[in-house]
Amino acid sequence: MTDTVRLEYDGKVFELPVVVGSEGEKAIDISKLRQETGLITLDYGLANTGSCYSEITFMNGEKGVLRYRGIPVEQLAEQSTFKEVAYLLINGDLPTREQLNHFSILLNDHSLVHEDMRAFYQNFPRASHPMGILSGMVNALRSFYPELQNMEEEINMTMTRLLSKVRTMAAMSYKISRGHRVVYPRPDLAYSANFLNMMFDNPVRPYVIDPDVVSALNVFWILHADHEQNCSTSAVRIVGSGRVTLYAAISAGIAALWGPLHGGANQAVVEMLQEIRRSGGDIKPFLARARDKNDPYRLMGFGHRVYKTYDPRAKIMKKMCDRLLEKLQLHDPLLDIAKELEEVALNDDYFIEHNLYPNVDFYSGIVLRTIGIPTNMFTVMFAIGRLPGWIAQWKESMDDPHWKLCRPRQIYTGPTVRDYVPLDQRGR
Ligand code: CMC
Repeated sequence: MTDTVRLEYDGKVFELPVVVGSEGEKAIDISKLRQETGLITLDYGLANTGSCYSEITFMNGEKGVLRYRGIPVEQLAEQSTFKEVAYLLINGDLPTREQLNHFSILLNDHSLVHEDMRAFYQNFPRASHPMGILSGMVNALRSFYPELQNMEEEINMTMTRLLSKVRTMAAMSYKISRGHRVVYPRPDLAYSANFLNMMFDNPVRPYVIDPDVVSALNVFWILHADHEQNCSTSAVRIVGSGRVTLYAAISAGIAALWGPLHGGANQAVVEMLQEIRRSGGDIKPFLARARDKNDPYRLMGFGHRVYKTYDPRAKIMKKMCDRLLEKLQLHDPLLDIAKELEEVALNDDYFIEHNLYPNVDFYSGIVLRTIGIPTNMFTVMFAIGRLPGWIAQWKESMDDPHWKLCRPRQIYTGPTVRDYVPLDQRGR
């Protein structure tokens, strides 16, 4: 039997259906609310609003649970590869050996980027942020790879092109920004190793691929691969709802991810840790600012809209960070500061009362620094990781017969009707 919620308004009673998800999550279906009652809902930050049904990712923010297509992220981080996770998210199931081989061949075949695109990279001002460049270049891909006639083929081709080329484009952008020769993808290297080689190989110092670094990068990307209806994914779905190309929708997702409250937090965390270090290493003034209601300052890498406990991704990232530094026999003083910050914050009344725990970005920057990724490319790394999630969510929205143009309403609070006043009657 379907549950309903009774809404009493203006002397009438309305019955609103309650819908239930496969993990028991409940929602009031208000799709007929305005039509039947004349009311709309108001929900800043859409914190109480479900925008769709989805079979892709399950999160439980109270218990710190994250699963892709039902599989716990811990198992995927331990046993899978990013390529396999991308397949899982987009297609719904883990690939068979044959499907995985076919997927690898497609990714290899589409890994080159049109040579003419190089000129674009070369003409961006040197100070351009790599996220702005990536967003622009992904949108520009459409001009280089015109639409195919067969819709299904077009969608599959675009998804593969994006997954494969985005990593080539990111590495290309880095090489050009340094004035170095572009390194092409290699057919003998797997997804993550190929990216590292394109980033760091150079004629005078050939890059030696370290399996520990490859495995760290795989885990980093798996942890970022999807996170249900977050800001950038919602941007992809909303922009996609206007029926733009997948390139344009992903370009919008990249732009949304750039913000420091979202994916840009990984860069902001390392900058915060560097600032603490530069100022002598005392964390107290930074915590005091984060607690101060009159100061907009926030402890970056802490807090999450959904997780009200430790972010499961941050747990894995922290362990991986320790393991990687140990294996490479490196020491990063920023890790010491991060651990001290975490310990003090987790025992601090303000952070306890506000349920503020480290999120995925708190330790991820230290992993990326260790791999050799420059700070201004951290969010690009997040974007490459999130791409399969964006694609899967876009595809799901396009296949959903109920998905329609996203167009929220508002409560207007401006002036009520008034007459136009000609310029010469407006006073000085
Ligand atoms: N430092 C200090 N106070 C904080 C923080 C923080 N990092 N995060 C939230 N608060 C406080 C906030 O000031 C508010 O306090 P009060 O109720 O007393 O006014 C309360 O907690 C609730 O904050 P909110 O902004 O309403 O909560 P939200 O759900 O909108 O915020 C967030 C989520 C991620 C935007 C926020 O926690 C934040 O700004 N964190 C720092 C940026 C960050 O690390 N972002 C990465 C998120 S994880 C990666 C991703 O998936 O995007």
